[in-house]
Formats: sequence, structure tokens, C-alpha cells
Amino acid sequence: MEPRTRARLALPAAAALLVLTGACTGGAVQGRPGASGLRDPYFPKAGNGGYDVQHYALDLAYDPGDGLLHGKAVITARAEQGLSSFNLDLAGLRVDSVEVQGAAARYNRTGNELTVRPAEDLEKGEVFRTEVAYGGKPKTLTDPDGSQEGWITTGDGAVGVGEPVGSMTWFPGNHHPSDKAAYDITLTVPQGYEAVSNGELRSRSDAGGGRTAFAWHNPEPMAGYLATAAVGRFTVTTGRTASGVALYTAVAPQEAAAGSGPLARLPEMVEWGSSRFGPYPFGTAGAIVLPAGSLSYALETQTKPVYAGAPGEDGLVVHELAHQWFGDSVSPESWKDMWLNEGFATYAEWLWDEDHEGATAEEHFQAFLDGDTDVDDEADSDWYAFPPAAPPGSEEISDPPVYHRGAMVLHRIRQEVGDEEFFALLRGWAADHRHGNADTAGFTAYAEESTGHDLEKVWDVWLYGQKRPH
Ligand code: ARG
Ligand code: ZN
Repeated sequence: MEPRTRARLALPAAAALLVLTGACTGGAVQGRPGASGLRDPYFPKAGNGGYDVQHYALDLAYDPGDGLLHGKAVITARAEQGLSSFNLDLAGLRVDSVEVQGAAARYNRTGNELTVRPAEDLEKGEVFRTEVAYGGKPKTLTDPDGSQEGWITTGDGAVGVGEPVGSMTWFPGNHHPSDKAAYDITLTVPQGYEAVSNGELRSRSDAGGGRTAFAWHNPEPMAGYLATAAVGRFTVTTGRTASGVALYTAVAPQEAAAGSGPLARLPEMVEWGSSRFGPYPFGTAGAIVLPAGSLSYALETQTKPVYAGAPGEDGLVVHELAHQWFGDSVSPESWKDMWLNEGFATYAEWLWDEDHEGATAEEHFQAFLDGDTDVDDEADSDWYAFPPAAPPGSEEISDPPVYHRGAMVLHRIRQEVGDEEFFALLRGWAADHRHGNADTAGFTAYAEESTGHDLEKVWDVWLYGQKRPH
């Protein structure tokens, strides 16, 4: 889109004057192209500039038989500048049509960028509606660290997972965690299949042609990487926690053991999390358990984390649950802030252990310093390899220093400020940025203000220091 801006700047003065006159006399609004990326330090092309999405309505039909997805995305956004064009992130698939404010829009595609040129420029502040009809066989992406994300087939079904950038394989959008929005995701699948997504199941209805439509409603702001859609022959269990959070758990039949494993403690864990971190941030909780081997990791998809196989340890379920506060409600401003997700979720595992007659957080911390795998089986990782707030590259954002050394940063704060201040800090942080975004500088400033302690040494040594701390 750069050439167009330059061309306009290069117009002779008289022509430029005409353009300006047109704008002043009520002619067409003069917009400029929105940026094609948000310059994330690790994924510069992720997300797009010039608008802020408020709501996604995704209508997706998927057939596990042929692996084809037919989608309609209705994206309601607010223009943050006058826009002559704007981008959506979309990887693969075929675009059939794009409309903006009900009028056909021109569009073109380069790489993972879908550039949309509305018939009329959009005004700064205008709330506008974009409708994209698309389809095809969604692809799986390989992350810089070699793991798979995007659209994953699971044997008898499929799942969409998107950390960090895979959501663009199954719907067009502003795919950066800094632009959060509400979602309504309707999934239409052949009869006999279940279809599961974020939030609450509003309806399950006959869609004709031997198909069922599942309408999911996620009213709280959600980062695109936390959206999910899972199709399979799941066994569904519903319930409520003691304090009334609605539960919805979908388990692949071959993983039925999940029902009696750590996942059975989810209601209790939600209550525990609320006592440690403040009120559970969403209306619903649950889980999606895929057949083992579908994925090489679990993911904290909003309200319903995805597990590849029945979780075998409390720690994993606690980890994904803790992300609902740290990551999902308080989301990273950029992928550089990943430790605010993973360090906190890892620390939650230590806390659960401490609160349930296991090793204390102090013992976990010490185990990493000593490499003692009897206390923590990950203590022999290279947790010290780089500072958690500065992974060397995009292939390291999910590495041990982000998780374990991130948790150690939190424990160092606890050692400095004491339990009372520390737990008030965890709750205050979750409350202050509830349903929003935050970055590392915001956290360090908040930690010092709220506890009244100077924590500079902790930041220098543990958060930013290149050397192995001891
Ligand atoms: N955020 C996930 C979790 O810790 C793990 C995602 C791993 N992704 C990856 N590309 N390595 O629960
Ligand atoms: Zn995690």
C-alpha cells in the first residue's frame, strides 16, 4: 500500500489542493492505508494498523470427511484513522467475496495479508462492518520452534489453535494479542459430531442437510490466538463450580480416562484460582480433550483449554486454568511479554502444590537453582539460558527461561515483599488489567508501586540479566 501514499504525496501542488478542497466541501473522506503489521518484535506482520476490532461473528461449516471449511466472517471494527484500505491477516484458503458496509469491496492478497479497499474511504472513528466469504482446506503452520499450530486434523475431526499466529489459518482478522474483541462462533458440522468453541453454547440446532449448528458466544474480550474451534466425536459433560461458573468439558472417547484424572478436579481448581488470583474472569470454564498425539502441547484457549490426551497431572490443568487470569484476561501487549503468561502460569503450578501438601514454591525455586529433579521434574532444564523478558528470537518464546525463570522472578518478588504484599500484587495485577493488555514495563512499575518496594535488583538480575542468576 506504500506506493499509493507516495503517489499521492508526489502529486503536483495544484492537484493536491484539489484533493484537499474535495475533502473540505463534503466530498469523499480522504483515508490512507492502514499498516500491514503492528511491528511486534517477534512477529512484525501479525495484526494490522488503523482499526480496532470490537466483534467477530464467525459462521463456519466444516466437514471432517473432506476437510473443507466454508466460512463467513463478519468483523465489526472502529477505524482509528481515515482508511482508504486496511489489511486482515489470512493464511491460505480462498477468498470468495469481501463487503464493507454492505458494499462490495476490492481486495488483493500477498503472503498472509488480505488487503481490503472499501468502495468508500472510512472515516476516523467510524464503526464499520466487513464481511468476508471464504473457504478451502485450512492449513497447519509450523512455528519458528518447530511445533504445529493453525488448523490441525485429529483423526476423526479437527481443531483450530492459534498461539502465536495460527488463527489466521481459519479466519481473517487482526491477529495480534493487542486487539481483543468479543466473539460469536457458529460451527456447522455433520450430524454425529460435536463442535466446541469459546464461551457459552447458546444453541444447538438442526441446520438441515444432515448437519447440526452449534452457536457459541464469548462476550468477554479475547485475543485471536485464544480462539478455538474443535470438531470431533466428543463426550460432553456440563456442570457448575461451587460459586456458579458454568462448566463444559468435551472429551474424545478414547480419552475417557480424563473423567477420573486431574480434570475431575477442575471445579475445585477454579475456586482455588479465584481465591488466589481474584474472581474467575469469564462466565464459563471447561476443557477440550483431543485424542492423544493430536498436538505436542496444551493451549490455554479462552474458557476451554485444549489438551492433547487426558491430562495426567494436576499441574497441567492448573497451568492452563491460571492462564485464564494471566494471558487470557490480562493479555500480553506483544509477544515479547510472553513471560507474563508463562511465568505466572508456571508459578500457579508451584502454588497449587504448596497449597495441597506438595513442595512449597520456595522448594520449587530452590530445585531449579540446584537442578534437583526429585522436587521438580523440569529443574534440569536450561531455565537460565536467557532473560525471560528478552527471548533471543521468535523460536525461543516458549522456551524454559520464559516459563521457569519467569516463575522464579515472581518468587524473588515474594521473597522481597512477603506473602501478604505478594498475593495482593497477584490479585491487584489481574484486577487492574482485567480483560485488557499489559506489558513488562507496566508490570515492574505496578509491582513497585503496589508493594512499595524497590525491586530494581530483581528486574536487573532475574528479568533482564544475561548471566545465570544464583
Ligand atoms: N501456551 C502453551 C502453554 O504453555 C504452550 C504453547 C506452546 N507452543 C509452542 N509453539 N511451543 O500452555
Ligand atoms: Zn502456558
